[in-house]
Amino acid sequence: MLPDKPIQNAIQAISAKDISAAGSYHALSGSERKKMLGMLDVKGLRSLTGLIKAAKKKRFAAANKRFLEIASRSTPGSTPVYLIDETLVEENMRILQYVKDRTNCKILHALKAYASFATFPMMSRYLDGTCASGLNEARLGREEFKKEVHTFGAAYREAEIGRILRYSDSIIFNSFYQLKIYGKKAREKGVEIGLRVNPGHAEVENEMYNPCGPHSRLGIVSDAFKDEFPKYRDVVDGLHFHAMCEQNSDVLQRILTSFEKFYRSYIKGLKWVNFGGGHHITRDDYDIERLVRLVSNFKKRYGVQVYLEPGEASVLNAGVLIASVLDIVTNEMEIAIIDASAEAHMPDVLLMPYRPDIMKSGKPNERQYTYRIAGPSCLAGDTIGDYSFDQPLKRGDRLVFTDMALYSIVKNTTFNGITLPDIAVVRDGSMVETVKKFGYKDYKDKQS
Ligand SMILES: Cc1ncc(COP(=O)(O)O)c(C=O)c1O
Repeated sequence: MLPDKPIQNAIQAISAKDISAAGSYHALSGSERKKMLGMLDVKGLRSLTGLIKAAKKKRFAAANKRFLEIASRSTPGSTPVYLIDETLVEENMRILQYVKDRTNCKILHALKAYASFATFPMMSRYLDGTCASGLNEARLGREEFKKEVHTFGAAYREAEIGRILRYSDSIIFNSFYQLKIYGKKAREKGVEIGLRVNPGHAEVENEMYNPCGPHSRLGIVSDAFKDEFPKYRDVVDGLHFHAMCEQNSDVLQRILTSFEKFYRSYIKGLKWVNFGGGHHITRDDYDIERLVRLVSNFKKRYGVQVYLEPGEASVLNAGVLIASVLDIVTNEMEIAIIDASAEAHMPDVLLMPYRPDIMKSGKPNERQYTYRIAGPSCLAGDTIGDYSFDQPLKRGDRLVFTDMALYSIVKNTTFNGITLPDIAVVRDGSMVETVKKFGYKDYKDKQS
């Protein structure tokens, strides 16, 4: 029997290496997508992956112009603002859904990276739920994402555990002590129980972001696990590890080799293994085919469900921070003071540290006019970096910092009482909706 017409069209587009295959694939229903994948050979699947990635790249390139255009027509006083492009978040969601389609794994969005729930109704159509770091994220996930909630905290507070369990489908413990004191309660409430383990391998150079570094408190180490686990085997539903940071699937492969070396004999009979976050699945150079192989083979070998819980990948490159130049001062170089702060509004710039991109700028001296871009706070080191521009900067000019949806809105502060940037969402590629404005009350409410 011939496949349905939409499937036939999508398969023909793949054979013709036509980028429209991506759109045709995404437009299919879940069962049609599964049917189509079942009809493709390895080469066809690889081509589809390539076309899906190419289509996504094209949509992101077009959106960059949109960000600049919105920034240029924003009125004075309307900055700073985090601007999230919902269509771009949806492009990322489609990539994650494709991984789910190919592997039958489950994917949770990590709220710690991005929790602007104005886009959750769309995101929840693609993903299986959220992962939370404790009570407030678990509650937000339950209330706004409305799907599965998986909570991991390094240690839980007695005063919160009842409510954490109320909002969670699974709770992951970081020690056998935590399991001992809270496990019974979790069981009684029908909440699944997981243990976070240290997989024994990570490739994160910056110790600040390495969950498997020396003396890490995150995850039970294998020796302790071997000694204690047999006593608790019957109450544990799954294992969890998290060892990656903005990395590709080759790193996951090496982590899995180590994880399996230490924990192989304990996996069979569990319901799930959670591979944590840090998978940069929506980055252009991410090797999706390798991820698909790793997850599918793991599921086959052990008969367990696999969860991934990326945060960054959900909103990678899907939001910007628009700021305005307030003043320009000189001290052996030109310094532009803007209305956004590294310390208060993009703290990873100082912590990681890294230099965010500003649209239409270059490295120092690459273009004719070089400036240090700095925040308005009292912190001497509140500088974002040195950038060059084709035209001299003027007071009132807008600057568009890229890739600011992740780990910025969730981490910002009101240091110095500086007003937090608004949050706005571009829907349908044009309509800008300001979903949150901040003011004095937000600052005052945080103080005593
Ligand atoms: C336990 C856990 N899961 C998921 C994530 C999300 O990671 P990312 O946003 O890098 O994908 C993190 C990040 O720190 C984490 O600690």
